[in-house]
Amino acid sequence: MTPERLARGQELIARYPQPQSALIPFLQYCQEQDGYVTLQAMKDAGELVGVTPGEVESIASFYTLLFKEPAGKHIIQVCRTLSCSLRGADELQSYIKRKLGIGHLESSADGRFYYEEVECLAACDRAPCLQHNLEFHYDVTPAAFDSLLEQWLTQPPQPAMPAE
Ligand code: FES
Repeated sequence: MTPERLARGQELIARYPQPQSALIPFLQYCQEQDGYVTLQAMKDAGELVGVTPGEVESIASFYTLLFKEPAGKHIIQVCRTLSCSLRGADELQSYIKRKLGIGHLESSADGRFYYEEVECLAACDRAPCLQHNLEFHYDVTPAAFDSLLEQWLTQPPQPAMPAE
């Protein structure tokens, strides 16, 4: 593990009562650095928080915002469940796919975007909604998506974990 990665891992561990609680934030940090969760990152994570490689692998596989191969700098996940569907998610999904030129579970050729349709994001009262990296957006229309896209392309991406 690099000294920088170890320092960041120790900083994350210090935030929680149990070291294992730092596992996902540490993997998110590694993903930000490497573009995805590498085998080395999973090995480092296990050593850091004291769990087996198998446990790291199973957690990394379960958590939908961790990718074990390059996905995209902008991860866009649009809810496809009933409330969002009834309030225009289908139209929004079609619009985004056309706009980005990619389909469900696909990345753009330039590595900037990854698009996915996901189950309920637990914001049904603000449907349709989407998640961009770790940020939620509510009542999203195609026009609102255009504004978001412009922001994402002109502002630096939000870190997965706040500095403190
Ligand atoms: S149905 Fe879309 S957030 Fe619940």
